[in-house]
Parts: sequence; structure tokens; C-alpha cells
Amino acid sequence: MTIQQLINDRVVAALAAVGVEGANAAIQTASKPEFGDYQANGVMGAAKALKTNPRALAEQVVAKLDLAGIASKIEIAGPGFINIHLDPAFVAARLQTALHDDALGIAKAAPQKVMVEYSSVNLAKEMHIGHLRGGIIGDALVRVNSFIGHDVIRQNHVGDWGTQFGMLVAHMVESRAAGEAELELKDLDVFYKHSKKRFDEDPAFADLARDYVVRLQSGDAEVLALWQQFVKLSLAHCNAIYRKLGLLLTDDDVRGESFYNDDLPVLVEELRQQGLLTESQGAQVVFLDEFKNKEGEPAAYIVQKQGGGYLYATTDLGAIRFRTRVLGLDRCLYVVDSRQSLHFQQLFTTARKAGFLSADAQFEHIGHGTIMGPDGKPLKTRSGDSVKLVDLLNEAVERAYALVSDKSPEMAEGERRQIAEAVGIGALKYADLSKSRNTDYIFDWDAMLSFEGNTAPYLQYAYTRVQSVLRKAEDYNPAAAIVIGEAAEKQLAVALTQFEDVLFTVADGSQPHHLCSYLYSVATLFSRFYEACPILKSEGEVRHSRLQLAALTGKTLKTGLGLLGITVLEAM
Ligand code: ARG
Repeated sequence: MTIQQLINDRVVAALAAVGVEGANAAIQTASKPEFGDYQANGVMGAAKALKTNPRALAEQVVAKLDLAGIASKIEIAGPGFINIHLDPAFVAARLQTALHDDALGIAKAAPQKVMVEYSSVNLAKEMHIGHLRGGIIGDALVRVNSFIGHDVIRQNHVGDWGTQFGMLVAHMVESRAAGEAELELKDLDVFYKHSKKRFDEDPAFADLARDYVVRLQSGDAEVLALWQQFVKLSLAHCNAIYRKLGLLLTDDDVRGESFYNDDLPVLVEELRQQGLLTESQGAQVVFLDEFKNKEGEPAAYIVQKQGGGYLYATTDLGAIRFRTRVLGLDRCLYVVDSRQSLHFQQLFTTARKAGFLSADAQFEHIGHGTIMGPDGKPLKTRSGDSVKLVDLLNEAVERAYALVSDKSPEMAEGERRQIAEAVGIGALKYADLSKSRNTDYIFDWDAMLSFEGNTAPYLQYAYTRVQSVLRKAEDYNPAAAIVIGEAAEKQLAVALTQFEDVLFTVADGSQPHHLCSYLYSVATLFSRFYEACPILKSEGEVRHSRLQLAALTGKTLKTGLGLLGITVLEAM
């Protein structure tokens, strides 16, 4: 159980003992060291509801509050805050457990079957900057949820279906016949442009493309095989990016839009039988009273176009139906640009009405903002095109390489390259993950690659410093007692026990930036501890104890960065 949960349960019990049932204990980590380690702020709210004096109520609660073996001091502050100072012996015991456990003593959650759907690119085009945030955030959520014990399914809901695939396949066949396929397919954007040009300029080509679409949709084996070849090629482009970016996604995680194609008529029929469909301007729609426009008219969620075609929305209904009925998910996180927020709200509402989604299934849109250029508009290249991911990743590594070479020109080339990979990619990921995912942010190479402040290079460097202390120590007893004396020691020690709290918070709200702030505070507290408390120069029990604090700091930074998909190096 997390410390926060533990304290919460005790405070709730104390509140109940003085007659306050069902109150929110509002446990937080203390905002300042002088307020202890945790604060219970719920008494004020409870007193207000009961119309009683908060300070008096806080005194009654504290009298009943049993934190024996957990806290060494409990104080009341201000109008009725309860400040809780953890018992150093309790902290030391938690640290010992963490040190000797691969999972750092972190408890497992009641396991849920969780899908994280992310990346979900459209296969007709090259991956661009718009795919960066979702990839990075989704991957971190996969790692954190798996680490705390959930059964996590990664899902790449790629756009691999639709009329443009007829055109693309036709162009693939054509360029193969001309012996140019390999060259043509090197860059999907160029390939797409050429296909489009052929389609617009040559009626015979356009007819062939249309014929392919019809044959594709009717399941013609020959055209299906060609389409599959194109999908495979396009996925190979994605995989190259995923590997470079260090994402966990593989071909096994792909279940594209085409997968649901056969289900679409079936589910539309299901909606019809439930009386949910209305014909509106020739289309089949579900009217949603929950989403009214200014005129008070309900929104129309279109599931079938005039003429019978299906839409993005229909496929998403198919996916939900599959994910609950076949996969039996408890939770599904759709990591997708916030601009699709209305689509997801209407999707979930429609799916609930149709019974595709049970009341307790946690299906959530994990929206994210946009990466902006210095002008505050979505980042573009100088010529106004969207920034290709492959170029962006290469630039990150090149910039990191220049930095490392500048700092350590004497270092062997291979080593500098290795550091540049870790730092460049790490910086890019961390810059994204450390911001609240809901907001837009301005892309800034210098800020993200800085060795100071809340950045990946700072944390990666902090990790190497810890490792260097441990290497120099050579002999230390990993089983020695942990003694917490100095204030800087206690602050670091308490922070190290809070890793579990943070991971559960991150998983709960799907907000990786809390993990970043946490790791940054651990690194900062370590550096204060390092200045205030000599490690290698101390002796006996104190030396062994401080080395263990250092070892756990290293382990926490490495694991925490790992959960963000960022690699550490032993030296840099
Ligand atoms: N392929 C879509 C796009 O590029 C994103 C898919 C998001 N996932 C979903 N289940 N709708 O916009």
C-alpha cells in the first residue's frame, strides 16, 4: 500500500471515530519541510459541513489518530491542517525493502486489463511531428501501468483502410513494373504525392485505382495481397521510427481500422434494432441529447453516410465493441490529440447507449496538446511543411553529439555516439513528458538539451554522479542499517519512499509529468544531501547508510527514467 493510502485510511478511521463518516481526508505530501512529510487537509471541509470549529475537530481527530510505527510527530497547524512527520525508523524500513527488491518494494495494483492505444498513424503518409507526443506519452503509460502490475495491451490502431489505398496500391504496382518501387517508396510523402498526381492526371490510372478500391472492399484476394504489401512497407517506416525513439510498439501491437471492416454492417444493424438510428439527410445517425448546439438541437453522430459508406466513427464503435466483448478490457486509454476530444466524448456516449460499453468500463480519451514553434503556431519546417519525425530524431541526436563532443572532445567517438543517442532521444522525450499533457508547448532545442533544470540531460548526469560515488566507495555493506540523522538525509530518504505514491498517481490520471517532477526533486535532494552530508569521507555505520541512500537514489532515477522510456548511462 502506498504511504499516502496508508495515512489516508488511518485519518479516515480517526474521523469516523469522532463521528465524521465519509469525509475526504485530503492527504497530500507536505508542501514545505517544516510542515512535516504529509498533510491531512480534510478536517476543514468536514468541520464546515458539520458547522463546528475546525481546530477543535482537528484536536479530536488527532487524539484518535493511530499512526504508531508510521509517524513520530503529529501537529495541528493553522485553522486545522494536520501535519504528519514520518518516523525515521519507518522510513528506513521502507528504504531497506526498496533497496533489496528489483521492483523497489512497490506494491502491485489490483490488476486490471488495460489497453493503451497510441501512435495510431495513418499508413498512407510518413510519420510527422504530430505523432511524437502520442507515441511518447502512450509508451510511458504502458510502462508505468505494467510496472504496477496491470495486464497491459499495447494497441496501434493504424489507419490502413479507405479509398486512398486503391490509388496507393495502383501506384505501387505501376512503379514496380517500371522497376522504381524501391526508390519511390523510400519516402511515403513523395510516394503519396506522385500517386495523387497520377490519379489527377491520368484517367486510366484513376479507373484502375477505383477498381482496386471496389475489389479491396469486396475482399478480392489479389488486391488484398497487394494492399497487404503496401501496409507492410508502410509499417516498416513506422517501425524504424519506433526503434529510433525507443518505443515498445511492434507489429504484434497493430490492429488497424481494416480489422473492424466486416463488423461495421453488423454493428449498424445492432444500433438500428435498438432503435438508436435515425435517417438524417440520407445518412444514418445517432442523435445525442447530451451534446446540444446553441439552438438546442442534439448532435448527430453519423455512423453511415448517404450511399452506405462507413466512417472513422463507425470503425471506432467497432473497436469498442471488440475491446469489451472479445478482449474484456477493464480500462482503455486512447492517447490521441486533444483536438479529437468531441469525437471521443460522443463515441463513448454512443457506445454506452448501445451497450457496447458497460457502466464500469473505464474508457478514456487521454488527450494531448500540440507542439508549437517559436511563433506560437504548430511547428512546421521553414518551407511550411510538417516536420518529419525521422528528421527531428536525427537532429536531436546530432545536436546531442555536438554538445557531448564539445564537453568531452577526448572521449572515443563510439562512446560519444552512444551518449548522444541516449541524451538526444531522452531530451526530446523528457521535454514532452515533463509538461502537462493537456497543454500545448513551444519546442525549444536549447532548453531540452540543457544540463541544468528539469531536463533529461540533468537527470542522466545526476545518475552518473551517483554511480561514480558508488564506484569509488568499492566496499560498502548493502545490508547495513539505514540511519537518518541530518535534515538533508531525511528529506532525501522520505522522497525515496514516495516513488510508489507517484507511480500510482501517474497511472490513475495518466499524467507522466508527475513522475518527471518527482525524479527532478529526487535528483535535487540528492545533490543537497551530497553537499551537506559527506559520503565517502564519513565512517562506519553512517558511511554505509549514506551509500545505501545513494544506491537507492541511483536505482530510483534509473527505474523512473526507464518508465518514461529514457535510458541512463553509467558514465558520461
Ligand atoms: N489515425 C487517426 C489519426 O491519425 C488516429 C486514430 C486514433 N484512435 C482512434 N481509436 N480513433 O487521426
